[in-house]
Amino acid sequence: MEGLIGQKVRLSPADKEKHFENALRWMNDPEVTRWTMMGDMPITRVAEEEFFDRMLKPNDTEILFAIETLDGQHIGFSGIHQIDWRHGVATTGSIIGEKSYWRHGFGSEAARLRTNYAFDVLGLRMLLSSAFSDNTGSLKMLKKAGYAEVGRMPKRYWKRGAYRDMILLVVDRDSRVP
Ligand SMILES: CC(C)(COP(=O)(O)OP(=O)(O)OC[C@H]1O[C@@H](n2cnc3c(N)ncnc32)[C@H](O)[C@@H]1OP(=O)(O)O)[C@@H](O)C(=O)NCCC(=O)NCCS
Repeated sequence: MEGLIGQKVRLSPADKEKHFENALRWMNDPEVTRWTMMGDMPITRVAEEEFFDRMLKPNDTEILFAIETLDGQHIGFSGIHQIDWRHGVATTGSIIGEKSYWRHGFGSEAARLRTNYAFDVLGLRMLLSSAFSDNTGSLKMLKKAGYAEVGRMPKRYWKRGAYRDMILLVVDRDSRVP
C-alpha cells in the first residue's frame, strides 16, 4: 500500500484523476469552508485546477497529500506549504471534506502522520498552522496532534459575518505526538 500509513488513514500523493472532483465539490460546500480561508467566493474548476497544477508539478516547497481511509476512500486533503528549507519551517493545512468522517479521529491522525513525515523524512524542525478562534474542531484537532497555541491576531479576517481572531499554532520535534 502506497503512502504514509496509520491506524485509520493513509496520506497518499494527491492525484488529479483520483482526487480533483472531490476537491472541487468540497471547496464549494459552505459547511466544509465555514472556517477555511478559501471558500467565500465560488471556487471555479479553473481556479481549483490551477491550485492542483501548482501543488502537483515538481517543486520544492509544496506538498499535497490526499487523506484516504485504509480501504481507499478519499476523505480529505493534508498539505505542507511554503517549505522554507533554510529555516526548517513550513505551514500546514487540513481538510476532511467527507463530513460523515468528522470527529472520528481521522484529522488528528492525518496531522500526526504529516508531522512525523515533515520532521523525520524532510528534516524540518517546526510546522506552523493557523485557525479561526471559532474553529473549535480544528483547534482541538491540532492540539491533539501536538500543536500548541503561540499567538492570536485579533479581528484578522472577515469571515461569515464578522471580523474574527486568528490563532497561530506550532508543533516542533519536542511537542509532537509520535
Ligand atoms: C478541522 C478538521 C480537519 C478536524 O478533523 P476531524 O477528523 O473531525 O478531527 P478529529 O476527529 O481528529 O478531532 C480531534 C478532536 O477534536 C474534536 N472535534 C473535532 N471537530 C469538532 C467540532 N466541530 N467541535 C468540537 N470538537 C471537535 C474531536 O471530538 C476530538 O476530540 P477528542 O479526541 O477529545 O474526542 C475537520 O473537521 C475539517 O476538515 N473541517 C472543515 C475544514 C476546516 O475547518 N479545516 C481547518 C482549517 S484551519
